[in-house]
Formats: sequence, structure tokens, C-alpha cells
Amino acid sequence: MEPRDLSSHVAYRAGRGIEEVARDLGMDPDDLVKLSSNENPFGPSPAAAEAVQEAATDLHIYPKAVHADLTDAIAEQWGLTAEQVWLAPGADGALDLLARAFLEPGDRALVPEPGFAYYPMSARYTNAEVDSYRLSKAEDFAQSPETVMEAYDGHRVVYLTTPHNPTGSELSLSAVETVADRTDEETLVVVDEAYGEFSEAPAARRLLDDREGVAVLRTFSKAYGLAGLRVGYALVPEAWADAYGLVNTPFAVNSVACRAGLAALDDDDHVEQTVETTRWARDYMHEHLEAHTWESGGNFVLAEVGDAAAVVEAAQRQGVIIRDCTSFGLPDCVRVSCGTREETREAVGVLNNVLAEVLAG
Ligand SMILES: Cc1ncc(COP(=O)(O)O)c(C=O)c1O
Repeated sequence: MEPRDLSSHVAYRAGRGIEEVARDLGMDPDDLVKLSSNENPFGPSPAAAEAVQEAATDLHIYPKAVHADLTDAIAEQWGLTAEQVWLAPGADGALDLLARAFLEPGDRALVPEPGFAYYPMSARYTNAEVDSYRLSKAEDFAQSPETVMEAYDGHRVVYLTTPHNPTGSELSLSAVETVADRTDEETLVVVDEAYGEFSEAPAARRLLDDREGVAVLRTFSKAYGLAGLRVGYALVPEAWADAYGLVNTPFAVNSVACRAGLAALDDDDHVEQTVETTRWARDYMHEHLEAHTWESGGNFVLAEVGDAAAVVEAAQRQGVIIRDCTSFGLPDCVRVSCGTREETREAVGVLNNVLAEVLAG
């Protein structure tokens, strides 16, 4: 017996973990700086870490009340009803919920290329077919309604990412609105704002007040530093209130994650510190990295370095882990996550050394 035909599927490849790299290189993990997965360099909010410890005594209880509490808190934050918040195990989980609710076998989804690898994976699980729209390097990966609409042909779901991973480019609210206007009534436009907190652009949530074909994704993985707990959500129009219960895995977000999420939402200082340092780090990289970099609205910067695999390997040997963008179809680019000020300075120093060595031959 075999699994069903998965030949069109591509496995997700995460950035390399610190333990993994340390083991390979025979180094102490504490001597490595990991800037390959767009994680929060400050860790979780201390209040969230405390909430996790306190949650340990209640692990035998299904997460019913606490799930509702977190949903209510998120709804209040965004000025929406609880039914408009689809809590899920990460934004990844929210993508699955939307795919389950909207895509039928044979439907078509439209994803950005380069882009976040989980969109096509999630769409294909429902036996949907996947096409892509191109963000062109020659045009600095600029996003506009035209880049999307040129490839659009009645797709059932269109995925937009702003800020975009891995390039950092953004789509203005009015551009998102134009895409929603120009696509069919039966097309869902998913606006993935996993990196929304780091951007200065207005959030797409405001589109939910007067339209039905838009859903917005958000996550606790980045600005809130809870990537390890897997908690995110979709914000959806009021009209879909009932669909969540029909497509959700029971108790999909665990109680520890819910408690941490609640604590993190209350810790404004942690988010502010994260966002401020991220913006500083982006500027620092643009200014000091001796490679072409692109403007970024996220907590990372894309840099053009020539042979990305060689640069990533050399940087790793000098203690800095960054992301080779070959799997995004950009074999001459690396993506460097924003670290603390100290980590960012170190990463830029190491990368500049590596680039000078590569140039010297
Ligand atoms: C654009 C984008 N969307 C969604 C996600 C998934 O986030 P989560 O950790 O909430 O599943 C990521 C993760 O890196 C991402 O880059």
C-alpha cells in the first residue's frame, strides 16, 4: 500500500536549526548566531514564558475555555466578533483552514513565485491545482495589482504576502483592495500579514468591514516570539461565521499556546522592543552590508551575494547561520533575519568578510 499520488507536492524545507549546525561543525550552539528563520531575537515575552510554566498543571484539560479567551482577546484587539477569528496552529494552520473551507478538488489557487512554500502545499492537500504569479527580480520584486492580475484566471484562492517572504516587498492596502475588486466574486483573496507588525503600512483588517472575499492572516510566531508554540489565526468576514466549526481540527491550538498567546498580547513592551530593533537592524543591513539589498517591510533582509550556497556555508563556519534562497528559486540571494543589535552587527561583519573572501577568489 502507498500514500496517494503526492508527486506534485514539494516538502517544506525550514531554515537549519542551531543544534543541527552546531553538531555538524563541532561548535557550541551558544557560539552561533541564528538568523535563518525570521524568529524573534529576544525570545518570547517573559510574561508568555511565565504563563507556559503556570499552564503545566492544567495539561490534562482540553483547551476549551482558554481557546475562547484567546479568540475573544484577538477579536477585541482588531475590533471584530469572535466568530471572525479563526484560531489555528500557526498561520500555516490558518492557511489549511482556509484551503479546507474554500478549495474543492480541481479548483485552482494562485501563489506568488518566489514565495512562501506552504501556500501551494496547503492548497494541494485539498487536491487543488496551483499556478503562480511572478515577482521579478529585475523589477525589485515589486508587487502590484498588475503582477497578480496578469496571471489571474478565475482562480478560487489568490495568496498575497505583505510584507513578502523572502523579498520584503510590500503591497499597499489600496493595491490589495484593487486585487479584491478585480477578482471574481467567488475568489478568496488571502492577505498574509505574518510580518505585519514590522511594516509601517496599514493592516488589511480594515478591508473586512465592507467586503466578503478577503481573509487576513496573522501569527504569534514573529513579533510575539512564540514560533515554537504554533499559534496564529485568520481574520475573516462575518458571513463565514459557521465555516470554522466545520473545518477546524478539534482543539487545534493547545492550552499552553493559548495561555502564552494571551500573556503575549498584553506585553506591549516586548512587541515594541522587537519592532524597534527590527527596524534598526533592517536599516543597519541596508547601510553596512556590502551586497545589494532590497527594501524590506519584514524582520529580514534579502541580499544578493553571488553563490548563495557557498556564502551560507562560509558564514556558518564563522558562526552565523543565514538562509540560502536557492529553494525560493533565488540561488544568488541570502535572507538574513534581523537579530539583536549585537547579533546583526556580528552577522554583517561576518558576511562582509565572507563576501570579500569570495571576491578575492
Ligand atoms: C509569509 C509567511 N506566512 C506564514 C508563515 C507561517 O507562520 P506560522 O509560524 O504562524 O505558521 C511564515 C513563516 O515563516 C511566513 O513566512
